[in-house]
Amino acid sequence: HETAAIHDVDFSFEGPFGAFDENQLQRGLKVYTEVCSACHGLRYVPIRTLGDDGGPGLPEDQVRAFSGRFEVFDAALDDMRQATPNDHFPGSALSNAPDLSLMAKSRAAFHGPAGTGINQLLKGIGGPEYITAILTSYTGETREQAGVTYYENTAFSTGWIAMPPPLAGEDLEFDDGHSNELHHEAEDVAAFLMWAAEPKMMARKHAGLVAVIFLVLLSVLLYLTNKRIWKPVK
Ligand code: HEM
Repeated sequence: HETAAIHDVDFSFEGPFGAFDENQLQRGLKVYTEVCSACHGLRYVPIRTLGDDGGPGLPEDQVRAFSGRFEVFDAALDDMRQATPNDHFPGSALSNAPDLSLMAKSRAAFHGPAGTGINQLLKGIGGPEYITAILTSYTGETREQAGVTYYENTAFSTGWIAMPPPLAGEDLEFDDGHSNELHHEAEDVAAFLMWAAEPKMMARKHAGLVAVIFLVLLSVLLYLTNKRIWKPVK
């Protein structure tokens, strides 16, 4: 089986100056909550981080209201209780649906040319592109194997995935009025999952930029120092 080439998506968070788009993360959160969370979990993601800078940026009261949608097991109570912002998102509800906390960093879209992976240097590793492609590459064919239904998906490694097509397009309305065509919903939830997997990406890029500027300045100073020290000799 040949997996289809996965298309590069121009996400706002790519490149050295890239930043998450708050509206897109909020739309992706909505797709995740209303569709994906029926089966998948985000057990490494604390709900309170929905209010962090650089993330979906929900105001505190909305974070609190959102946490109330979930029930978590409390070991101290030995019982279930309503989640608070300090709890994590629940884990997967379906045992064979993988947790999505780190999915955007554990999959790659670009392996070429000829398996060298050079495209990852040019386009990024492509986790969010892979997720976008999985959600938009169903052919509509299904088959049964040992009582399990598999759905043909040209982006999935084996070609047949156990996940029924979760999105059809126009599955929900976005509060910001953005298009809910299939590929937009898919990109939005992929962006949200990238944030979930790497919530400090913007801080990391910022620190990287400061480090590069600092090193450039240091190089100039060292060059000039070197010139001056050796001036009497040369
Ligand atoms: C697998 C995303 C909704 C059930 C996956 C994978 C991703 C994903 C990225 C991993 C593919 C891989 O291993 O490379 C999503 C997103 C959803 C969503 C973003 C919402 C838009 C659902 C729903 C269900 C479901 C609603 C249940 C009805 C599964 C199952 C697998 C899976 C069973 C394992 C498939 C296999 O390994 O064959 N999903 N999913 N997913 N998902 Fe979903």
